Amino acid sequence: MDSLEFNKIAGAVLGTALLVFGLNELSKIIYHAPKPEKQGFAIEVAETTETGNDAAADTAAAEPAESLGKMLASADATKGQAVFKACQACHDGSKGGPNKVGPNLWGVVGRMHGSHEGFAYSDAMAALKDKPWDYEALNTFITSPKTAIPGTKMGYGGLKKDADRANLLAYLQTLSDSPVPFPAP
Ligand code: HEC
Repeated sequence: MDSLEFNKIAGAVLGTALLVFGLNELSKIIYHAPKPEKQGFAIEVAETTETGNDAAADTAAAEPAESLGKMLASADATKGQAVFKACQACHDGSKGGPNKVGPNLWGVVGRMHGSHEGFAYSDAMAALKDKPWDYEALNTFITSPKTAIPGTKMGYGGLKKDADRANLLAYLQTLSDSPVPFPAP
């Protein structure tokens, strides 16, 4: 084999190799294109499932929450005293104690909204002066003060855990010479 012929063959082999390699790379680019995010068939299945889930969630939401009376029946005032620490930044709970950032809370259960002597209430709170603080009203207010009484100046986000609120209400009950009985379970 003379060197010219060798060069021709080598050139052909190299050319073929390059072509094969090139095609291979090209096919990778073509066939590895990103898959479409959703496939029509899968979407239909997912929608059916979602509707099912929604129906289940609706049913759960429609079930009545445990009544406040029932929650209070098993509440623990001692645990509530610990919860009350978060309120003491602004409230004094002792008999004849001072108003702080918020009004004194001795005897708050059963007393009228916005009625503690010497405290400058917000207009929103003062407007409710004919309404007594029963356990329901306290529960709603403490869950989310600004939702319950828009315009209140009580700068507290709210106590979301049912058990904490029940224990706290049981403690507020003790801040009185004649504690107000809990509502029936
Ligand atoms: C950052 C201070 C702050 C914290 C913390 C706070 N309060 Fe208050 N609270 C206030 C202020 C201020 C008012 C007066 C609201 C108004 O006039 O709108 C108030 C009003 C109240 C009232 C109405 C009293 C009345 O005489 O009508 C109750 C009940 C009450 N707070 C309970 C609580 C409880 C229970 C907690 C703890 C879970 C708590 N607060 C935490 C500042 C606070």
